[in-house]
Amino acid sequence: MGRRELLLRLIASSSAPLLASGAADASEHESWQAQFDASDAPWKSAFTTAAGDLPLTPVRVRGRFPDAARGTLYRIGPAGHDLGGERNHHWFDGDGMAHRFVIAGAEVHHQGRYVATAKRVAEVQAGRRLTEGFGTVFKGREAVSSPDSMNTANINLLPIAGDLLALWEAGSATRLDPRTLETRGLKTWRNDLAGAPFSAHPRVEPDGTIWNFGVSSNTGFLLLYEIGPDGVLRRADALPISDMPLLHDFAVTSGHLVFLLPPLVYDVQRRAAGASVLDSHVWRPELGMRALVIDKRDWTRRQVLTLPTGFLFHLGNAWEEEAAHGTVIHLDYSRSSDASSVLTDTREVMRARLLGNAGPSLTVVSLNLHTGKATQTDLGIEAEFLRIDLRRVGLRHRRVIHAAKPNGGLPMWSAIASTDVESGASQSFSYGAQAMVEEHVFVPDGQRPGWVIGTVFDYAQKKTVLSCFAADALADGPVAQATLPYAIPLGLHGAFVAA
Ligand SMILES: [Fe+2]
Repeated sequence: MGRRELLLRLIASSSAPLLASGAADASEHESWQAQFDASDAPWKSAFTTAAGDLPLTPVRVRGRFPDAARGTLYRIGPAGHDLGGERNHHWFDGDGMAHRFVIAGAEVHHQGRYVATAKRVAEVQAGRRLTEGFGTVFKGREAVSSPDSMNTANINLLPIAGDLLALWEAGSATRLDPRTLETRGLKTWRNDLAGAPFSAHPRVEPDGTIWNFGVSSNTGFLLLYEIGPDGVLRRADALPISDMPLLHDFAVTSGHLVFLLPPLVYDVQRRAAGASVLDSHVWRPELGMRALVIDKRDWTRRQVLTLPTGFLFHLGNAWEEEAAHGTVIHLDYSRSSDASSVLTDTREVMRARLLGNAGPSLTVVSLNLHTGKATQTDLGIEAEFLRIDLRRVGLRHRRVIHAAKPNGGLPMWSAIASTDVESGASQSFSYGAQAMVEEHVFVPDGQRPGWVIGTVFDYAQKKTVLSCFAADALADGPVAQATLPYAIPLGLHGAFVAA
């Protein structure tokens, strides 16, 4: 066994969090459940638990979905938030439920199915939580034996080579059957990578090449993956990173992998003392926002530039150009001034509290690899769930589709918008004061402007609604809408697959 293989095996096994010693006692858990139950917040149904799987159901459609949108929108999100009278303390801790919206003109069908993770199967059988989550530690529970014992498979989906991968962040991807959403088991890219972290925002280039990363917080290594369009791993390796941050997304250009490292830094000692994975991170603004740029072909060639301090979940896209004295990388991301979104907003909703914090702002960046100078401009538009035309991944793009206008605080996005990141021009459609906008995706239509499809949680109707817009006329409102006969818990990301 070579040095590299040894290292990867170490990361796969020891990226496990240490011990679940427990910060919160039983009464505090009861209190979270009681506070949620007692709240009269009209939107709290977005964070209730889905009782069970939802069989394929016809959905009432108004209008007609265009031919280009014939296919399936897959979505996933946390849907199992409480069990046995205990409520998770963070939105991101819920058991993942995968959805498919099968779209065919004036007909839409919906199906939802929980991912049968080892965690969920064991806990449902026991009728109680057995292991901790990303932001919740239940006192006196089993020590975590591996990252996958905490794996909730609840963040994103990647269709690949006959599988639909349900992605989490600190452990394996979970293979689903794309036709039935049945769980097939954990994905192993290579034997020495079994259980290694595989993050939730892979980037797929127009030629089908898939790039991803994984964060091993305990060992301080960043894993990199290059995967062919056939789903076969081409390369994987691990790079040491100082002051390992909470890292959720990245971007690729034609020549580079680009990471923005927010200064929310993992502290092994906090973890050893029993803090949750989330609470083991320390806000260290003096580090700034580091931009790590890695040569795609030679992962040993890398450069770090520094931006003003801030926090992010998501980037839109990145691309590079050869300027007079060298390469300049352009990217856009959704920037917050601090990490309150993950530390407080997305936590407090679990007891039906809304803190009213402002949303992150769409921000464009230039990284000059010749001078080492990094600059950024805030476009002044609150934005999350950034998506682009996936035919432009790593290439120059202008239009970013995003959720906008948080109504009363995060995560109450009320509008969908399209912003030109070069001109700053933006148009939007507001769903109204009682809708929570989920991620919308771009659907290409040959050389025509294309479409935007996505869901909202309508808490006035207590129903989830799927809408389709002309991408160049968002403000005109939806051309078609499918209203489910029920609501599904507020979710995270997804992918459209044309029929
Ligand atoms: Fe995400």
